[in-house]
Amino acid sequence: MTTIKTDLTKEILVKLEEHLQAFSYGASPKELYEPITYIMGLGGKRIRPLLALLAYSLYKEDYENALTPAMAVEVFHNFTLMHDDIMDEAPIRRGKTTVHEKWNTNTAILSGDVMLVKAYEILADVPADKLGECLRLFNKTAREVCEGQQRDMNFETMDEVAEAAYLEMIRQKTAVLLGFALQFGAILAGASKEDGQHLYDFGVNIGIGFQLKDDLLDVYADKAKFGKQVGGDIIANKKTFLLIKAKELAQGDDKKRLDEWLSKTVFEKEQKVKEVTALYDKLGIKAIAETKMTSYFDLGFAQLDDLNISNKEMLAALKGLTQDLIDREQ
Ligand code: IPE
Ligand code: IPE
Ligand code: MG
Ligand code: MG
Ligand code: MG
Repeated sequence: MTTIKTDLTKEILVKLEEHLQAFSYGASPKELYEPITYIMGLGGKRIRPLLALLAYSLYKEDYENALTPAMAVEVFHNFTLMHDDIMDEAPIRRGKTTVHEKWNTNTAILSGDVMLVKAYEILADVPADKLGECLRLFNKTAREVCEGQQRDMNFETMDEVAEAAYLEMIRQKTAVLLGFALQFGAILAGASKEDGQHLYDFGVNIGIGFQLKDDLLDVYADKAKFGKQVGGDIIANKKTFLLIKAKELAQGDDKKRLDEWLSKTVFEKEQKVKEVTALYDKLGIKAIAETKMTSYFDLGFAQLDDLNISNKEMLAALKGLTQDLIDREQ
């Protein structure tokens, strides 16, 4: 991955990782807690707590004091992944077997549930004068993530999904959590309401761009680097931006072939992925999706111009990290 992370971002990431690894989720019964240690130990980009810590650092220098609350966002994220992998029947996550495959679905449900509780336990320790606001925002975010996830599943069996409906679905399932992470960091650091809102809006826009990139990677990633099953969205008829555009643009025989693949219930997974990808290629879908993705990242960057901050170094760090998300390969 081309990286333009600043030294400061790297330092924060190292501290965050140490902090995460040192945390104990519980020991007994081990069947409940082992999958949590497993998924939390698989790494991942840690983008959400990192965004919270960078937002915090725009206003205050003692980011060490925000490491624990920032963890709440990562624990919540990993809970959503554990359950998302059941819903998506995903075999691999971060290059390793998913929890419901390594153990079983019931384990993944219950360990996921307790992770959600853990996220709240961690959140409950934010300073009392900020707790109400943080909880309200977090609850709204968590509810929206569930709404987005349900829409994502509803769309699997729908023939037509409008682009606007897709964008609203990914705003909910993915983008609001990035927005929350940034606003949360700002609140903990005592930033103004206006700056908190700009950071939230920045997060939501780059979050939409982030999910568009995730959809692109699902088709075009290098298998060795991706850490997830390539083509999973095609296999499940996920109404990604790529599929919505392909359905819009395909004509004649291409349209017929695409519709056939979408309606097949028995098929060779690899063949479906190969043929649908070939159709995307023929229709130039990758470039269209990349343009859309970039437009959302640009909308996000524009929000940063309105921040009332003097720490230009941290602002550059935040922009650099965001650029990394555009260029990422996993
Ligand atoms: C995956 O999130 C789920 C999406 C919202 C796209 P990430 O791409 O942040 O996954 P990790 O945490 O780095 O593995
Ligand atoms: C994930 O969307 C959104 C949430 C986990 C809430 P995806 O289903 O596209 O995420 P990946 O690709 O499995 O990481
Ligand atoms: Mg999903
Ligand atoms: Mg998934
Ligand atoms: Mg995905």
